[in-house]
Amino acid sequence: PMVSVAQLLAKAKEGKYAVGAFNCNNMEIVQAIVAAAEAERAPVIIQASQGAIKYAGIEYIVALARLAADQSTIPVALHLDHGTSFEQCVKCIASGFTSVMIDGSKHPLDENIALTNRVLAVARAVGVSVEGELGKIGGTEDDIHVDERDVFFTEPAEALRFVQETGVDSFAPAFGTAHGQYKGRPELDFARLEKIYSLVPETPIVMHGSSGVPDEDIRRAIERGGVRKINIDTNIREQFVAGVKEAIAKNPAEIDPRKLLGPAKEKMIEIIREKIRLFGSSGQA
Ligand code: G3H
Ligand code: 13P
Ligand code: ZN
Ligand code: NA
Repeated sequence: PMVSVAQLLAKAKEGKYAVGAFNCNNMEIVQAIVAAAEAERAPVIIQASQGAIKYAGIEYIVALARLAADQSTIPVALHLDHGTSFEQCVKCIASGFTSVMIDGSKHPLDENIALTNRVLAVARAVGVSVEGELGKIGGTEDDIHVDERDVFFTEPAEALRFVQETGVDSFAPAFGTAHGQYKGRPELDFARLEKIYSLVPETPIVMHGSSGVPDEDIRRAIERGGVRKINIDTNIREQFVAGVKEAIAKNPAEIDPRKLLGPAKEKMIEIIREKIRLFGSSGQA
């Protein structure tokens, strides 16, 4: 069944594990996410970015996720990933998303707080949960230098102000992760994450850019950093494309798309199951 993200994260906080939030763009990815979660008896978050919504169409995303949730025996939430405007968040709320992220991180703190509060006012009225972001979670291509960390990473005192003045259901700080494939091993600022967690212990923390973060760092972020939602996109993309390439390599003459997408789906299910086990949400449904 379809549930809200706040509900899933409240339980994750109790149990000290993290719920996986996996990005989707099409039917095969939605099916892979729910099949993996079902196999692991895990709660799961299906999320769609503005780019995914543009690609598939909002009605398709909602219909696919609703159907998958209704057919499943585990709790499933549908979340907007990196919504950048009030209008985008309201459109998703009206279309059936059970959670939205308002990413006001490109605005100054006061404007970010004001924008987040406008979204919260609408979301609260209909029981939809809201994730906020403060600090710059860039792409791996941004290559933030060590001496720039204080400029881009989330200032703990500002995190406290942001959470107090909004009351968001979950909070995404910048502490060294990045979207996309890392070139080397990412250097996470655990001291900063742990400080933020100590200041806002009641608010579940969201880790973005989690594909490519070593398992031990993921475990540490959950155990000591209050991370309760972990976003994975790139790892799914890698498996999808690898699966298609392998199938084509095996039979270059293949003209049946199902023979290419079927194996790709199996590879996506495998990586999602691995992540769910790593996050500790296996068996928590
Ligand atoms: O945060 C970024 C997600 O990986 C979504 O990426 O905007 O290319 O769909 P996208
Ligand atoms: P990755 O693509 O690095 O896994 O990041 C996903 C993400 O943070 C989506 O919001
Ligand atoms: Zn992200
Ligand atoms: Na990443």
